[in-house]
Amino acid sequence: MSNIDTILGEGLAALAATADPVELENVKARYLGKSGALTELLKQLGALPPEEKRTQGAVINQAKQAFEAALNARRDAIASAQLEQQLAAEALDVSLPGRGHGTGGLHPVNLVKERIVALFQSIGFDVAEGPEIESDWYNFEALNIPKDHPARAMQDTFYVEGGEAGQPPVLRTHTSPIQIRYMQDHKPPIKIVAPGRVYRVDSDATHSPMFHQMEGLWIAEGVSFADLKATVTDWLRNFFERDDLQVRFRPSFFPFTEPSAEVDVLGERGWLEVGGCGMVHPNVLRNVGIDPETYSGFAFGFGLDRFAMLYYGVNDLRLFFENDLTFLRQFR
Ligand code: DAH
Repeated sequence: MSNIDTILGEGLAALAATADPVELENVKARYLGKSGALTELLKQLGALPPEEKRTQGAVINQAKQAFEAALNARRDAIASAQLEQQLAAEALDVSLPGRGHGTGGLHPVNLVKERIVALFQSIGFDVAEGPEIESDWYNFEALNIPKDHPARAMQDTFYVEGGEAGQPPVLRTHTSPIQIRYMQDHKPPIKIVAPGRVYRVDSDATHSPMFHQMEGLWIAEGVSFADLKATVTDWLRNFFERDDLQVRFRPSFFPFTEPSAEVDVLGERGWLEVGGCGMVHPNVLRNVGIDPETYSGFAFGFGLDRFAMLYYGVNDLRLFFENDLTFLRQFR
C-alpha cells in the first residue's frame, strides 16, 4: 500500500519537473511503459489471493488514473507554455510604419526633353516619333545622302542583319528620318518636333554610342531663313531663361538643307555649338512628293544630352547612362 503511494508520489513529482514533451514522454514510459513502475505493480496482482487482488487492484488503478490525469494536465501546460513563448518571439509590431516604395523620378535627359517639347508645343508644334531601326533609305538616301557620300562617314553607325538588297537596316544615326516619314504621311503646313534616341560609333566624355536628339521641321508656303533664326533664337532664350542670350548661326553643310548653319550660343567659356539647321533641300521635298516651287521650310537637329549637360552643369555625358541612383536622384 505505502509502496503504491510512494511510487505515485515520485511519479507525480517527476511529471511536475518536466519542461518539454520529450522529457514528459520519458517519464510516462518510466511509469506506464511495458516495464514501468505502475505496470509492474499490476503484473504482480496475479500472484495474490482473489480478495486481496480486488482491493489492491482498485488501489493501483486509482493510482494509475491519478498519474494519467497529472500527465495530461502537464502535457497541456507544456504545450500552452510553448505557444506563449512562440507568440512572444514572433510578435509583429503592426504599428510600425511601412517601408514604402519610393516615388521615382524622370531621368534628367527626359526632364530636359519635356521642357523643350513643352516650349515648342506652346507655339503650335506637334510631336512626332519614328523607329530606332531604320532603313538605309530613310536614314540616308531620302535625306539627300547618297551611297558613298562623305557625309556618311561622319555618321558611322551600327548595321543590322537582314533587310532587302542594298537596304541594310541601320540603327538611326539622327532623328532626321522622322522628317521623311512625317512628310510622307502629312500635307503641309507641317510643324513638328521629333525627339528620340540615336546611335553612332562614338564613345568618350562628350560622345556616347547612344544619345538623344530632337528634330524640328516647319514646312509651309513662304517659310524663310528669317523664320528659322527667329524660332530657334527665341526657343534657346526661353530654354535658358535669358532674354540677352547671344545666338550665332555659322554657315555649315548638311546634305538635307541648303543653306545650312550650325547654331552656337555664347556661354561663360565662349561659343558653344548646340545644333544644326537649315532650309530643307528641294531634293528632300521632292523625295516625299512635296513641290519645292510651292512650299519651303526649315529643319533643325539638337542634341538633348548636350542640353541636359548645359542646363544641369554636368561635365561628363557618360554619367547620364550609368544608372547610378546617387547621381540620378539629384534631379528629382
Ligand atoms: N541630322 C544632323 C546630325 O545629326 C543634325 C541636323 C542638322 C538636323 C541640320 C537637321 C538640320 O534637321 O537641318 O548631325
